Amino acid sequence: MSRFPILVFEGIDGTGKTYHINKVKKYLKKKKIKFVSIREPGGSKNSEKIRKLLLSKRNNFHKLSDLFLYIASRNENVELIKKTVKSKLVLIDRFVDSTIAYQHYGQKINYNLINLFHKLILKNIKITHTFLHTINRKNLNLRLKFKKKDRYDSFNLNFYHRVQKGYLKLTKKNLEKYTIVNSNLSNKNKENLIKNKINKILKI
Ligand code: TYD
Repeated sequence: MSRFPILVFEGIDGTGKTYHINKVKKYLKKKKIKFVSIREPGGSKNSEKIRKLLLSKRNNFHKLSDLFLYIASRNENVELIKKTVKSKLVLIDRFVDSTIAYQHYGQKINYNLINLFHKLILKNIKITHTFLHTINRKNLNLRLKFKKKDRYDSFNLNFYHRVQKGYLKLTKKNLEKYTIVNSNLSNKNKENLIKNKINKILKI
């Protein structure tokens, strides 16, 4: 393999995405598959600095400033991803689709503007597969009540539904590039769904 896979985990807050990323990391370690795991915003050293700014409770940036910071945070990861993919699998907790879902579908920022930024910074980084974690309205409501408060947790339920609908629209554009991990399924079922797909991608 000249390039190793890039696997992305997406979904609105409270879908159990982090739980499954941790399971995948354990699985890869068990199989002795080398990987690097990045979370966005954050990842590289510089990107983590931007994360602090973005997710601080006192952040009341204008939505365009927010967009610029998410893009800046991603830009600071580009070199790291390009280098890593030559020798290791890359796991990314949120990537391009988060910005389209949250900033375009959620915050209603122009799609072409976001696309332009991505074209400028990403060059030839290609995502192999995305695991989109979804949740139904009732469960989302319940989970958001218990989640710690940060930047986006103050948004209401409708915002998150708009964002999730946006994510689902993205999957329709390229179905084979996505696995939808529905939170209504049991954890075991979800784990198997993800594991089977990874096995297929890695041919193991
Ligand atoms: P984080 O605490 O990492 O949440 P999670 O565990 O749900 O991933 O917070 C990341 C927040 O940033 C989350 O609310 C989604 C938001 N976000 C955007 O709005 N746009 C983006 O491009 C990215 C990467 C994240």
